[in-house]
Amino acid sequence: MTRGKFITLEGLDGAGKSTHLVWLVETLRARGKSVIQTREPGGTPLGEKLRALLLADPMHLETEALLMFAARREHLAQVIEPALARGDWVVCDRFTDASFAYQGGGRGLPAAKLEILESWVQGSLQPDMTLMFDVPVETAYGRVTGMGRELDRFEQEKADFFQRVRQAYLSRAAASGGRMRIIDASRPIDQIKKTLEEIIATI
Ligand code: TMP
Repeated sequence: MTRGKFITLEGLDGAGKSTHLVWLVETLRARGKSVIQTREPGGTPLGEKLRALLLADPMHLETEALLMFAARREHLAQVIEPALARGDWVVCDRFTDASFAYQGGGRGLPAAKLEILESWVQGSLQPDMTLMFDVPVETAYGRVTGMGRELDRFEQEKADFFQRVRQAYLSRAAASGGRMRIIDASRPIDQIKKTLEEIIATI
């Protein structure tokens, strides 16, 4: 049995990630792949409970990081690892790069602490490919605040928080050895899809 591929999507809130995720999953399925679509924090009944806490309840920044990785441990054990082992592809809306970007860059938690959690929770497992949807902070911020719904605890952060998140994503991408692909998501949607098609043809 060939192991499935693990693809993650990243980007600022408001980068358009969710739209592209739907298209990506449909495209892979149309190509005959068996695809599990999931998300973090969340993806399991326990993980979704932790997600509700993480998005709403004020907490210490280390508690936040630990809960993100606790949800991730459960997600890997219950969903991601079994799916990859049986040959399914897993498309996950956010994964560990988000912890380095938000808890590391945004909140200022030292990367060394996150690296300990990363290696504890996932060992050597890394996504086969990570698509990072990059837009200027002003674009993402404008979309989120213009949505007309109540904002969660992360979305309520100020523009300078998101500048740090974006910079952390870009530095991690530069150090990822090609795993993370930066997609300019400020372009028209058909151009983004063309780029995505070219990228997924390589996996
Ligand atoms: P979502 O809105 O893309 O579903 O993500 C929920 C929020 O959780 C988003 O603002 C980013 C944040 N997040 C972290 O801060 N650290 C993490 O490790 C993950 C997976 C998400």
